Amino acid sequence: MDSATLRIGVLGSGSGSNMQSVLDAVLAGTLDAKICVVLSDVADAKILDRARDHGIPAQWLDCAPYKTKLDGEAERACVRVLNSHGVDTVVLAGFMRIVKPGLLAAFPNRVLNIHPALLPAFPGIAAWKQALDYGAKAAGCTVHFVDEGTDTGPIIIQKAVPVLEGDTPETLHARIQVQEHLAYPEALRLLSEGRLRVDGRRVIIAGC
Ligand code: GAR
Repeated sequence: MDSATLRIGVLGSGSGSNMQSVLDAVLAGTLDAKICVVLSDVADAKILDRARDHGIPAQWLDCAPYKTKLDGEAERACVRVLNSHGVDTVVLAGFMRIVKPGLLAAFPNRVLNIHPALLPAFPGIAAWKQALDYGAKAAGCTVHFVDEGTDTGPIIIQKAVPVLEGDTPETLHARIQVQEHLAYPEALRLLSEGRLRVDGRRVIIAGC
């Protein structure tokens, strides 16, 4: 794959700090990308405000009647909006729904997710709390391509942090988020430089 300016569409449900880290890298000139549109399944999510503050088109995506997945008409609407903005790369940034094959087929090998754990440990919800409850001594984050499973796609980058005595879910999540904000721009930079190749389960990083 050749290097190219990524045309990113972001899907998120929450505060949007990961979207912000990607945007900051774009604005700093360290990531060759443009965030074309931000979509959220939560009408008043802070991620939408953050995008609008930077003049990025941002809109609520009505995902009814589903509670935990992006499917049916909502999925079709999502693909339509992403296509209408010329998106070629979909960045899931705290998007708390399962994406289904329709979105993946529209953007083959171009849907990425960040997960707050060292996969395959602790997939699913509140992974940092799962790690703490389990008694893990290390936690971290994973950026991966999305496949049809939940948090199962080929891994691009992982970053580890220690779990410290006295950690609460909040302190551990905050430590993981510092690494998330480095990992997502780094993974997208590799993608924009054409250095990622998916070979089965493995992501081969050219030049590493
Ligand atoms: C992040 O920690 C992200 O890894 C997590 O939600 C948080 C969103 O924060 N995502 C998941 O748990 C997805 N399974 P943000 O809205 O500030 O980027």
